[in-house]
Parts: sequence; C-alpha cells; structure tokens
Amino acid sequence: ANASDFQPQSWQISSNEALKISLIEKDTEAGAIQFSPLYTYPIFGDEEMIYGYKDLVIHLVFDSITYKPFLNVKYSEKLNDDINPEKDIINKIIPFLPKDDYILKDELKWVDSFTQERKNFNIMSSFEKIDEYTKDSNKFGIYRVPIGEIIQTNKESSIVKFWERIQIFTLLFIEAATYLNLQEEPRWVIYLIFNEQDKNLIGFATTYSYWDYQGFQNFDKTSSNIQFNEKISQFLIIPPYQGKGHGSTLYQSLYSYWNKQSNVSCITVEDPNEQFDDLRDYNDLKILQENKFFQDLIEYCSKDKDDKNFFINEEWIETQRHKYKFEKRQFQRLIEMILLVENK
Ligand code: ACO
Repeated sequence: ANASDFQPQSWQISSNEALKISLIEKDTEAGAIQFSPLYTYPIFGDEEMIYGYKDLVIHLVFDSITYKPFLNVKYSEKLNDDINPEKDIINKIIPFLPKDDYILKDELKWVDSFTQERKNFNIMSSFEKIDEYTKDSNKFGIYRVPIGEIIQTNKESSIVKFWERIQIFTLLFIEAATYLNLQEEPRWVIYLIFNEQDKNLIGFATTYSYWDYQGFQNFDKTSSNIQFNEKISQFLIIPPYQGKGHGSTLYQSLYSYWNKQSNVSCITVEDPNEQFDDLRDYNDLKILQENKFFQDLIEYCSKDKDDKNFFINEEWIETQRHKYKFEKRQFQRLIEMILLVENK
C-alpha cells in the first residue's frame, strides 16, 4: 500500500464522472461517441458518489441503431473483496436496464448480438410518420408510436423492447424523470426522430393526452366534441445530436400535429427546465410571428393608447389563446415578451 491508499478521496469518485455512455455508430470502436450523464442519483443515490474503487470506469454502451445495451465495469483496485453485494455497481445498474436484454462484460457477444439484430431492424416502418425534414443533407422522420396501447396487446413487440432499452436516457439526462408506467396508462404516446438513411435514433418525446374538463355547463353543451389537452412529459435529444436544431424541429412538429386536430384544445408541458423553456419560448414566438399575431396584438393595444387605465381585454386574449392552443401562463409570458420588444 502507498500513502494515498489511506486517503478516503482516492477511493471515491463522482458517479457522473465514472459512468461513461457510448454510442457505437459502426460496429468498430472507431465509430464510438462517448459522453457523460447529467444525473446518476436515481441509480447511485443522492450524493452521486461511489466509494471503494480506484480508477473506476463504468461503461454503458449502446449501438446507435438497436440500442442493445452493453455494460462493463473496470477498476484497478477494489477496497474490500467481500464487498456487500448490494453495493456492487453492476447490481445497482441492472434494475434500470431491460430485463434479460443486455450483455454483461462479453463484448464480442454483444457485437454479434447487435450485428445480427441490425440486419432486420426497421422499427420505424410500422408507424405513422407525422413529419420529415432535411438537415445537413440528411433526411429525418418523426414517428408517432402509441406505445401505451401497443403494450396492452403485445408486451413483446419490438417497439416496446426498443423503448425499454432507451428509457434509461430519461433518467440520465432529465432531472426528476421516472420510467413511464405503460401498463397502467394506455394514453402514453411517444414521438421518435430517426435519421432515415442510417436509422440512428436522434431523440424523442413522451406525451399523453387528458380530458380537458371545462366545467359541467360547458361539458353539457359540447359533449359531442370532447376536448383533450396534450402534455409533453419528457423531451430529449440524444447528446451528440444536440444544438443542431432537432429539438426545435421536434417541438414545432408536435405543435403543428396537435394544432391541426380539432379535439385538442391546449398543449402543455410537464415541469420544463430552463433549457426547455428557452426552446419553447423561441418556437412559440416564431409560431406567433409567422401567424402575424405580433401585428394583431400591437394593433389591438394601440386602439386604446390614450386610455390611462388601458389593459388588454381578457376575452380577446382568451380567444387568441384558444386559437393557438397555448397554456394560459405561457401565453401571458409570450405577450409580455412581445410587448417588451415592440415597445422599445
Ligand atoms: N446549428 C447550430 N445551432 C443551432 C441550430 C443549428 N442548425 N439550430 C438551433 N441551434 C441552436 C438554437 O438556437 C439553440 O440555441 P440557444 O440555446 O442559444 O437558444 C440551441 O441550438 C438549442 O436548440 P436546438 O438545437 O433546437 O435544441 P436541441 O436539439 O439541443 O434540444 C434540448 C434541446 C431538448 C433541451 C436538448 O438539449 C436535450 O435533450 N437536453 C437534455 C434533456 C433535457 O434537458 N430535456 C428537457 C427537459 S424538460 C422536459 O422534458 C419537459
């Protein structure tokens, strides 16, 4: 033993640092992209620290098409040989991986497994494509998957398997995310972006719709036309593809898909973080600008310019809000932002 062995800090490491996520685009190491998670507390506890190992690296590797997981743990020394099995790193991660659908330590077996699977892999062809776009001369498609309904009839379906492989990304990159309970909630729908050429997954959103109960009286009148709210729950672009506009495109596609549907009354978001708020504001303002709402608002406001007690008529705002299907608080924010800029 050398002197550093007696310092506790040489046996501890942040779990966010120790865990390395890799995506293998081709079946060689050369095609690997590595990145770190933002959150590991659901797996390793609130402190996000791992004790008892030296030079610890936890490899969680996916191939970029099938997302079949591979898990390996490397270290130069372990503090106790009879370390408590519950503290064992592999045993902490396994509950978050798809049951019986990952490969441990045996890299060749894993390469064989995903190479085989890639041959017939064409998950997107079974689903409705709600949008497509081109970026940097690549073609992308956005696919709608009613996963909550699918799992009720076929738990073994290939899309369910695929989802169980990728869902760990929600825990690792979205604060306070938890796994969707698909068995109990058939309303879950996921939207996935795929690169149409190489079939790589780019990102996804999980959403569900819920009945927009407008009070007993309204319900009576409109019972022939039940309205729903659509809620975006988890929204994620796979890290190597972030910052290229895919997030904005996914948001805009979801918006226009829902905006076209007469039984959708409002589009909402569950616990957005700051980054998502920015993306949402930017895109909502773009939508309003393209639809000439800025002019409408300025015109409306200037009508009563001389009235010192002027405030924007609640009814007018509500009509506009319903037209664009925005949430009340979000629409107020957008109006404030527009007025701030336009009044400069
Ligand atoms: N080239 C370069 N930059 C671009 C391009 C382009 N072609 N297009 C857009 N950008 C810029 C945007 O202007 C924006 O800049 P800004 O941040 O200064 O405003 C930035 O890139 C990000 O915009 P997008 O590229 O459209 O967004 P991205 O694809 O990176 O997605 C997201 C954003 C979803 C937040 C992503 O970073 C992510 O998944 N993060 C981790 C998970 C997360 O935080 N999810 C949201 C949680 S909240 C919830 O789930 C409801």
